[in-house]
Amino acid sequence: MNTTYTRTAKHLHWLMAILIIGLLVLGIVMTELPLSPEKLALYSWHKWAGVTVFVLVWARLAWRITHRPPPLSERLSNQMQWIAHAGHVALYGLMIIIPITGWLMSSAKGFQTVWFGILPIPDLLGRDKELGDLLQQTHKLLNLLLMLLLAGHIAAALWHHFVLRDNTLRRIR
Ligand code: HEM
Repeated sequence: MNTTYTRTAKHLHWLMAILIIGLLVLGIVMTELPLSPEKLALYSWHKWAGVTVFVLVWARLAWRITHRPPPLSERLSNQMQWIAHAGHVALYGLMIIIPITGWLMSSAKGFQTVWFGILPIPDLLGRDKELGDLLQQTHKLLNLLLMLLLAGHIAAALWHHFVLRDNTLRRIR
């Protein structure tokens, strides 16, 4: 039975962790700035990094489907195992749906996303201010949910490491 993750899984996990935490901080900072060329550049970087997360999450899901991850700690009750699974499924779901809401919001607001200034991502929606505002609120709300889940995810990892003293954190390192 596997006791650790493969190098690919570890790299994907930490690369996406850095990108997502960076996106959360950037998202909050950039929206507060007054309109300026710098603000618009940060919006572009946010969109490019967000699309990158959307691409990477499929690589991660492909890994997950083709590999059996190490089992959850035996020290967890059935109920805690269920909560851990549900949390992981929700994180995957948000890593897919948050970029989609960002992409659709940009389309509805009339700003096409051109990935790293090279690859135009098709606009699936026409310009529609009301829909754009709704998608903006949805993007924000889902990000709040993501922040809560991430806080729980990080707290759980630390609890395993320092309180239960099992190998949950070490095996993804
Ligand atoms: C996992 C990926 C992503 C994360 C974690 C994320 C996170 C965030 C956060 C925290 C905000 C600030 C929300 C607020 O306080 O109003 C934000 C705003 C924004 N995001 Fe994302 N985002 C992601 C992907 C994307 C993508 C793929 C796009 C577009 C292609 C995008 C476009 C935008 C735009 C345009 C705003 C500014 C909305 C406004 O002007 O209020 N995001 N994002």
